[in-house]
Amino acid sequence: MTSLQTDTCAAENPASGNEARAPGNVVPLCAHRNDPTSGKDPTCSQMLSIAENQCVVRSNEWVNPEYKHLVLSAPDLALTVRAGQFFHLACPPSNDEVPYLRRPMSIYRVVPDNQRIEFLYKVQGVGTRGLAQLNRGDTLDALGPLGKGFDLPATAGAAHVLLLARGVGLATMAPLAQEAIAAGAHVTAVLSARSPSLVMSADYLRDAGADIVIVTDDDQTSDVVQVEHLIRRLHASRPVTFATTCGSNRLLSMLQRVAAELQIPGQIALEQHMGCAIGACYACVRPFRKSAGSDELTYRRVCWDGPVFDLQETTSW
Ligand SMILES: Cc1cc2nc3c(=O)[nH]c(=O)nc-3n(C[C@H](O)[C@H](O)[C@H](O)COP(=O)(O)OP(=O)(O)OC[C@H]3O[C@@H](n4cnc5c(N)ncnc54)[C@H](O)[C@@H]3O)c2cc1C
Ligand code: FES
Repeated sequence: MTSLQTDTCAAENPASGNEARAPGNVVPLCAHRNDPTSGKDPTCSQMLSIAENQCVVRSNEWVNPEYKHLVLSAPDLALTVRAGQFFHLACPPSNDEVPYLRRPMSIYRVVPDNQRIEFLYKVQGVGTRGLAQLNRGDTLDALGPLGKGFDLPATAGAAHVLLLARGVGLATMAPLAQEAIAAGAHVTAVLSARSPSLVMSADYLRDAGADIVIVTDDDQTSDVVQVEHLIRRLHASRPVTFATTCGSNRLLSMLQRVAAELQIPGQIALEQHMGCAIGACYACVRPFRKSAGSDELTYRRVCWDGPVFDLQETTSW
C-alpha cells in the first residue's frame, strides 16, 4: 500500500485522479464532508484515510455469461470498507484498449480475518474487459475505501430491512445484508434479474441469514406492479422499518412512492460515471431534492456526498 500525505481534506485541497495515483501518496479526508469549513482545522479528529491499496488477485472467475467475481488479498486499510462504499480501480489494459480513468466498483464482500475483499462486476466496457483479464497473482491498484456507505437505523436489532436490487445492484446490496443481520435485523432481499441465470448472490444472502425472493423478467414476476404488490405483502406480514434499493430507476420510483405512503425510511445506492471519485472534478454531480417531498433541487457529488443517499431526496434518472 502506498501513502499520500496532505494536511487538508480533499474538499480543501482536491487531488486529481492522476495526483492520487502518484506513488507514496495517501489522502486523509475530513469526515465533515458536507461542511464547507471542514478540513481547515488540522486538529480535526475525524479524518478518513484512503489509500492506493496494492491488492493481489486470488481468483477472478465467471459466475454467469455476463458477470465475474474478483477476489483480492488486500492491505488492512482496505479491510475497513463498509457496505455501500466503493473502490476506484485502476483497471489494466485489455488487448490494445487502455482505460483512461479508474472505474468505481462497490465492495461485494469483505472478510477481514482472511485479508480479503471481493467484487462482482459486469464485463461491459474497456475497464471491466481489462479487469476480466486479471489472473491469480496479478496486482490491482484499488483506491479507497471511498464514499459514504449505508447508515442502518440505530434500532437495527428490532428492524426488518428490505433490500430491493436489480442487476449489478445486487453486488452493492449484498454486504448490507451481512451488516444488518450482524446488527440483529431481519433482512428480506428481493432480487430482480432478466433471467434466473443472471440472479446472483442468492446463496451468499441466504447463508448470511436473509429471506430471499427472486423475481425475473422470464417468468414475468419482475414487473414493477407485481413487485409493488410483493412489497406490500411483505410489509403486511412483518412491517418493513428500513428500505434500500440499487440498480433500477423504475424500482426506485415505485419504492419511493410506497415507502412515503407507508412511512418507511430508506436509502439508495447510486451509480454514476466518475472521474476522480474523491470530490474534486464534479463529473458525478446529480440533482437531488433539498429534503424529502421538497420541489426545490440541490446538486450533490455522487462520489463524495454518496453514493448512498436518502431514498426520498433522490431524483429518478
Ligand atoms: C459507486 C459505484 C459502484 C459501482 N459498483 C459496481 C459493481 O459492483 N459492479 C459493476 O459491475 N459495476 C459497478 N459500477 C458501474 C461501473 O463502474 C461502470 O459500469 C463502469 O463504467 C464500467 O466500466 P467499463 O469501462 O467496463 O464500461 P464503460 O466503457 O464505462 O461503459 C459502461 C456502460 O456505460 C455507458 N457509458 C460510458 N460512458 C458513459 C457516459 N459518460 N455517460 C453515460 N453512459 C456512458 C457505456 O455505453 C456502457 O453501456 C459502479 C458504479 C459506481 C458509481
Ligand atoms: S467523480 Fe470527481 S467529483 Fe465525483
